[in-house]
Amino acid sequence: MLADKHILLIIGGGIAAFKSLDLIRRLRERGARVTPVLTRAGEQFVTPLSVSALAGAKLYRDLFDLTDEAEMGHIQLSRAADLIVVAPATADLMAKMAQGRADDLASTLLLATDTPVLLAPAMNVRMWQHPATQRNLATLRGDAVRFVGPNEGDMACGEYGPGRMAEPMEILAAVEASFAAGPLAGKHVLVTSGPTHEPIDPVRYIANRSSGAQGTALAAALRDLGARVTFVTGPATVPPPDGVTVVKVETAAQMSEAVQAALPADAAVFAAAVADWRVANASGSKMKKDGSGAAPALQFAENPDILAQVAQMRTGRPGLVVGFAAETDDVIAHATAKRARKGCDWIVANDVSPGTGIMGGTENAVTVITAQGAEAWPRMDKAAVARRLADKLAAALV
Ligand code: CTP
Repeated sequence: MLADKHILLIIGGGIAAFKSLDLIRRLRERGARVTPVLTRAGEQFVTPLSVSALAGAKLYRDLFDLTDEAEMGHIQLSRAADLIVVAPATADLMAKMAQGRADDLASTLLLATDTPVLLAPAMNVRMWQHPATQRNLATLRGDAVRFVGPNEGDMACGEYGPGRMAEPMEILAAVEASFAAGPLAGKHVLVTSGPTHEPIDPVRYIANRSSGAQGTALAAALRDLGARVTFVTGPATVPPPDGVTVVKVETAAQMSEAVQAALPADAAVFAAAVADWRVANASGSKMKKDGSGAAPALQFAENPDILAQVAQMRTGRPGLVVGFAAETDDVIAHATAKRARKGCDWIVANDVSPGTGIMGGTENAVTVITAQGAEAWPRMDKAAVARRLADKLAAALV
């Protein structure tokens, strides 16, 4: 149920706008109050009268409507809602949002708001797949904007593929999910994930095989329990989840800075596979063979131990600090020693020997080491490990 929830619904210009009329009806059936905003382009597809009649509320259309400014300024309008839903979200609206433009009422509201935003994109397949739209999508995801759809199917323009707006019932489910007050509502959780890249010269780097899959699944699971998640990620192969604040970094030093900047947090989980060493004599220009056959002598300097730095903070330490330990032998013994050495509360240990297929794979078998001892969990999907870990974290934080 959405009783007492106030939804600001922005209807963009697309053939899918007709589905938004049904969405208004369904939102209201569940007790939500809907304030509609119709863009100029949206007016080409649905009439202002039908929108305001179905919403049972005043329709907002123009930024420079002075009567409206006196009644309720655009800033206030953007913040009075509990959630802003943009359906259909056109390629143009997404581009404006990604750039922070404010040249009409809809884009101004989206820029002025501090309310969560849910987008239901709808556009032609090629427009959706265009690198510009995909760039905007990644930017918006990084700004913690959530998405529902688009779906794949036949399109009004006669093409087939992703671009159809999600159905009203799917949008409704996403709206309800965003209000599900999980046990981590109001908590800020920081998650590091992925590998780091340590440059040797402008074209070469030292890396590791981490895909970022476990950290990504964990960030999604924490988000699903209602946490506000800051996701600091190295160059992972798995895309970051929706609805979290994404901070992309390359090196361990950058990850350390990003983590410090994201604090304070109620809990911090360090799932990143951080390089222990960086190249101290990295070259500013590409290293060349000198013809003598001599290999370049790389010198290494130790990277900051990000987990240990946070775990050992005297003031402002997150209430719960969780590290990971990727080991290939004596897993429990090494991980127990690591927990004590780094000063974290829990260590999630896993065996990443090549035979296990865990590093870069879809499953994980972990042992969670806490002050109470070691808990061995059965081998399961990384998403299942993430959910169980998120539940354990939520239970510890209350
Ligand atoms: N970690 C970190 N910063 C580093 C190195 C590691 O935050 N510079 C974190 C990882 O994210 C992980 C944990 O520390 O949560 C364990 O990292 P690992 O590299 O396995 O431990 P090491 O300290 O390198 O121990 P060892 O070299 O013995 O494996």
